[in-house]
Amino acid sequence: MNNLFAKKPLAMLLAEMKGENRLRRVLGPVTLSSLGVGAIIGTGIFVLTGIGAHDKAGPALILSFVVSGVACIFAALCYAEFASMVPVAGSAYTYAYATMGELFAWIIGWDLILEYAVASATVAHGWSHYFQDFLSIFGIHLPKAFTIAPFDYDTAMGHFVATGAMFDLPAIVITIIVTAILVKGIRESARFNATMVGIKLVIVLFVIVVGAFYVDPKNWQPFAPFGYGGLSFFGHTVFGQTDVDGTALGMLAGAATIFFAYIGFDSVSTHAEEAKNPQRDVPIGIMSSLIICTVLYIAVSAILTGMVPYDKIDLNAPVSNAFAVVGLPWAQFLISLGAIAGITSVLLVMMLSQPRVLLAIARDGLIPESFFGAIHDKFRTPWKSTILTGVFVAIMAALLPLRILAELVNIGTLLAFVIVCGAVLIMRYTNPQAERPFRVPLVPLVPILGILTCIMLMFSLPVENWWRLFIWLAIGFLIYFGYGRRHSVLAKLRQAEQK
Ligand code: ALA
Repeated sequence: MNNLFAKKPLAMLLAEMKGENRLRRVLGPVTLSSLGVGAIIGTGIFVLTGIGAHDKAGPALILSFVVSGVACIFAALCYAEFASMVPVAGSAYTYAYATMGELFAWIIGWDLILEYAVASATVAHGWSHYFQDFLSIFGIHLPKAFTIAPFDYDTAMGHFVATGAMFDLPAIVITIIVTAILVKGIRESARFNATMVGIKLVIVLFVIVVGAFYVDPKNWQPFAPFGYGGLSFFGHTVFGQTDVDGTALGMLAGAATIFFAYIGFDSVSTHAEEAKNPQRDVPIGIMSSLIICTVLYIAVSAILTGMVPYDKIDLNAPVSNAFAVVGLPWAQFLISLGAIAGITSVLLVMMLSQPRVLLAIARDGLIPESFFGAIHDKFRTPWKSTILTGVFVAIMAALLPLRILAELVNIGTLLAFVIVCGAVLIMRYTNPQAERPFRVPLVPLVPILGILTCIMLMFSLPVENWWRLFIWLAIGFLIYFGYGRRHSVLAKLRQAEQK
């Protein structure tokens, strides 16, 4: 029983960092920030802003981006403190192991699969949609059977419906390409990412600067047609309007939806082991990428809702479509291209992060190290788990609908943020003297606000997500009690000490 809550001592974590079988230290502050921006700007801003403005918040989507951004800044400060203290690949998983014990660490590690692998599948879907949209500009259409997942959830009817397709072929193809790049090496991956990030930043700035000339302030009235609420408690709206299907509406509900757009800044912490100077550069990478994206997102949402009346915003490709609406079809072409590049880099960084978290878990023995801990002799990458991640992502992206995947990712990531904020508080109490190159300001206020805002957003998501999260965690428990608990390196060490 004791072993379930055994904590990994900080000294042990730091000693492990010096061991053999480590990843290659090649990433500097600019590359880390670029990886952060690479993971952040993608399907969220290019696709989900449509649903956020049209269905949930109206022009108040601008405030939704502020609320979600502030929640992420609280969490990011906490991630930065931990990353500077224990710069190892495991991110939130490792932080939880050091503060809350093994069972919690496992739960969070299992939960991070929702954040990284399931997010990758969501993003691969988004990529496929934009890619097909782009092909259609040239009159090219794929056979219907290969365009989307075979079923989808119809919110109006409240049940699953067949789409008539077999699987999403472009999503599979892009996943295979990205997996191959990732196996090849971190440097190649970072270089590829930097090019993609450059393209997408230019496109986002283009949207802001050119779009500003087409803003009609009348479109911002009414500003909050669905109100400022959107909080519900297991299916019962407690603050705000309720939609016909029972989900809560309003600015906060919009914030919970577009939270997906911010996911990714924390992935910088999973590259700590590949950073040249992790104590300084990982906090820089986390904070700078998040702040850049927050500012850009608020500007893009203001421009978008100013260009097109909220109820006319397109749901599939809202940003590029807004430019078609104001009579700039060439801009639509440019933005689709930028979205494809942008979404590719999100996929790259998310799929880069997943094997690194698995690597950290495998080193602790909670999953088989021979497989998940294997580092390629020549490329120095965790190649076996990278390929496994690729297969998992490709299958999910091929077969499961986008909407379900996206919401599951949001609730899982919010849970990870809550735990990291809590872990900072615990660590301050249990290890007050430990070296903290980066310190969260105003403790305990900032971590507590982080916990409260993330829980608020969890309750702003439709209720099904809670059930899906519980099922996911239950599967995780089965694996832990079936395998991890008996193979835990820490538990074995403790037993040896007791003898
Ligand atoms: N933030 C990432 C995106 O929007 C996951 O695609």
